[in-house]
Amino acid sequence: MNNIISTTCLVLLVLTVPACATKINDEVATAKYLQESRNTAMEFRKKLMGVQKAQLESVGAENAIPVCKVVAPGLAAEYSKDGQQLKRVSLKARNKVQGTPDAWEKEILEGFDNAQHDGKPADNMEASTVSKDADGRWFRYMKAIPTQAQCLQCHGKPADISAGMKAKLAAEYPQDLATGYSVGEIRGAISIKRKIN
Ligand code: HEC
Repeated sequence: MNNIISTTCLVLLVLTVPACATKINDEVATAKYLQESRNTAMEFRKKLMGVQKAQLESVGAENAIPVCKVVAPGLAAEYSKDGQQLKRVSLKARNKVQGTPDAWEKEILEGFDNAQHDGKPADNMEASTVSKDADGRWFRYMKAIPTQAQCLQCHGKPADISAGMKAKLAAEYPQDLATGYSVGEIRGAISIKRKIN
């Protein structure tokens, strides 16, 4: 009997230890990736806002479109390396190709919007998960991007956007959905994907 018990224990031990080890490793990796993704999202946003502010002040809004068009995707590409991908997504994307969310991103963005409509401040909203896709396992993170006053001249209601800006946006983005926002609403999110080995 004793032997059976100890054999059973041994078998259980052999079976459960690797499973436990994977779980602990996953938890450690997830906590590490969460902290790193938070830092990356904050740094990305700070850099982009800095360039945008400088451009709006020096050349004015209509000539600052290239900041969003060239600098933002360029900066996103800089942070997309070593198994990491960073992009900006929105339920109402201006850049249809880069800004359209996938299924998980859409669900999170809808959750952010609902929470904001319920009165929660957009500033602190974030989400993370571990997903298993056809191409492997990923740590995923999203951080909400709130609309601020300086965004309205390009993303606000018709009265906020100059005729010149409207013409430029129509020419550059004929399928633009990214207008009609008010301060505090969620313009989109920074979305980070990290491959888990
Ligand atoms: C000078 C005009 C301008 C200003 C000001 C501006 N944006 Fe944009 N925004 C754009 C353009 C143009 C794009 C499309 C960029 C591209 O082609 O990738 C864009 C894209 C975005 C996207 C990516 C998702 C999408 O819709 O394609 C986010 C998120 C975003 N802007 C947030 C903001 C926020 C937040 C502010 C204020 C802090 C802001 N923008 C201010 C012009 C502007």
